[in-house]
Amino acid sequence: MDQPTMLAPYRATPEIHVLPGYFPIPTLGIIPSNAFVIEAEEPVLVDTGLAPLQAEFQEALRSVIDPADLRWLWLAHTDQDHLGSLGWLLDENPDLRVVTTFIGVGKMSLYAPLPLERCYWLNPGESLPVGDRELLAIKPPSFDAPETTGLYDPASGALLTADCLGALMSEPAQEAGDIEPKHLEEGLMLWATIDTPWLHQVDAGSFASTIEGLRALEPEVVLSSHLPAAPGMADELFGMLEQVPACEPWVGPGQPVLAEILAGAGG
Ligand SMILES: [Fe+2]
Ligand SMILES: [Fe+2]
Repeated sequence: MDQPTMLAPYRATPEIHVLPGYFPIPTLGIIPSNAFVIEAEEPVLVDTGLAPLQAEFQEALRSVIDPADLRWLWLAHTDQDHLGSLGWLLDENPDLRVVTTFIGVGKMSLYAPLPLERCYWLNPGESLPVGDRELLAIKPPSFDAPETTGLYDPASGALLTADCLGALMSEPAQEAGDIEPKHLEEGLMLWATIDTPWLHQVDAGSFASTIEGLRALEPEVVLSSHLPAAPGMADELFGMLEQVPACEPWVGPGQPVLAEILAGAGG
């Protein structure tokens, strides 16, 4: 895969659709980039896909729900890979409320201000009532942006972890369990060392204790923004994450690699 690609939506649980995009990263493989639709009484969209895939994302979204029926847009955080169709959604559905934080609004104000009357500020530890359930906002153990807000849906047992528990991969997979275990572990740890390099500076024991709070929820399925749906794998994934502070720090490719890429491209 050498281009961003949107694959067909699938159900991770009877009420949660995954809208899976993939983004190639030169020399490293591909990274999933998921959005989610939670079919609560007040339907929730979590994130809005990749900017290069706006048309494909919007078609995928329409295949699972009429965007006009969405009530909430939950932003896991405001990194660009989560915002591809944000502007389109705000135009398409004037009643849509954006769930984010004070910091999320502040960061967006630097380039695409969110109208405050369209926002709902929710901090980790607080819950969002969506008709038939309350979604619990959580702070994932690892994150690359201060406004990051994952969620736990008690009705489905799904834990949405934003960028936490993502994995670099060599090819798309329907479920995380379809990835060869060694590749999954390597891909998860590589992603974590790249995306959250600060983990090398934290005490491994303290980090493990931050994971315990999520383990206690006993999630039935983990839904990371950057991993295929992972039913029945929470303990396994948390176990991998706990090892990241002790991993070798990642160093990006330098100028010799760029020179090679440019030479290969005839540059
Ligand atoms: Fe991010
Ligand atoms: Fe991300």
